[in-house]
Amino acid sequence: MNSVTLRSPLDMHVHLRQDAMLDLVAPLTAASFAGAVIMPNLLPPVNSVERLQWYTQEVRRATAAFSFAPYMTLFFRDYSEQELMAAREHMIGIKLYPAGATTNSEHGVQQIDAMGHVFAMMEEMDIPLLVHGETHGFVMDREAEFTRVYRHLATAYPRLRIVMEHITTADAVALLDQYENLFATVTVHHLYITLDDVVGGLMRPHLFCKPIAKRPEDKEALLRVCLDAHPKVMFGSDSAPHPVSMKESPGCAAGVFTAPIALPLLAQLFSTHSSLDKLQAFVSDNAQRIYRITPPSTEVVVEKVPMTIPDAYDEVIPMWAGSKLEWSITKPAHQ
Ligand code: DOR
Ligand code: ZN
Repeated sequence: MNSVTLRSPLDMHVHLRQDAMLDLVAPLTAASFAGAVIMPNLLPPVNSVERLQWYTQEVRRATAAFSFAPYMTLFFRDYSEQELMAAREHMIGIKLYPAGATTNSEHGVQQIDAMGHVFAMMEEMDIPLLVHGETHGFVMDREAEFTRVYRHLATAYPRLRIVMEHITTADAVALLDQYENLFATVTVHHLYITLDDVVGGLMRPHLFCKPIAKRPEDKEALLRVCLDAHPKVMFGSDSAPHPVSMKESPGCAAGVFTAPIALPLLAQLFSTHSSLDKLQAFVSDNAQRIYRITPPSTEVVVEKVPMTIPDAYDEVIPMWAGSKLEWSITKPAHQ
């Protein structure tokens, strides 16, 4: 197969930012995806119903030319029942960041154990919990250490749908089949790279992200569940744009920008592993079932037609800028 037609592809984890950056990157996401789960880590965070409504309007404005459903998220904090009731219809879930774990997470949760009443309300209201699952331990061990928290949450709130965001380890993969209410997103970069690609040779700032890419055996474990389209695994790019000045800097910001090349990268990978027939489930069907959503009906054709990854999208450098891809989008979503 040298071509695949994807129906309503979805990106279940993306950073669209605000202002000029939003105007730059949101159309690039909407040209590929029929919908996306939009992260709330703005400064200040999207942590009130007012902010949520404002941000929804902003994303809608920036994607007005496309058939695109923004699935908004709220930034986790100690919400009251009234606040959750008011916010519920405007969002798909609540994103929990441990304080200080990554970009703009300073306002995240200090003590997850102290938030039981919020998890209980979310469980009661059937609001999914999306989690950046890293401790503050040694960088390579953070996700594995966090599995303790996932186990606790999954057991204590058995009807709460918990999405382990951007998993990078075999440890996290192993949880999927142990707890009915645990799900996961996987990025495309973590299916291609390990820590060696980031710092094993020359240091590659545009491959630096949180969670950091891990070991070859972790990548293999991720590949196995994605290429099989494990029913609890969804595509979430974690495409996270930063201006080049923030990436090529003594303090490099975490984030890999993949939005415009995610589908070609995935098609190339699934094709190489003779699994193209599984791509539809991984990039859309699983997410529709898990989140109970019906996105706009779109079609995107990805074909084995080579492309060169642009050097930059304005001030944002994509993953593998300037290099060749074997696959490309020959019919984007809005045509
Ligand atoms: O690499 C990352 N970048 N990981 C995250 O969790 C946040 C993201 C961002 O917002 O830049
Ligand atoms: Zn993210």
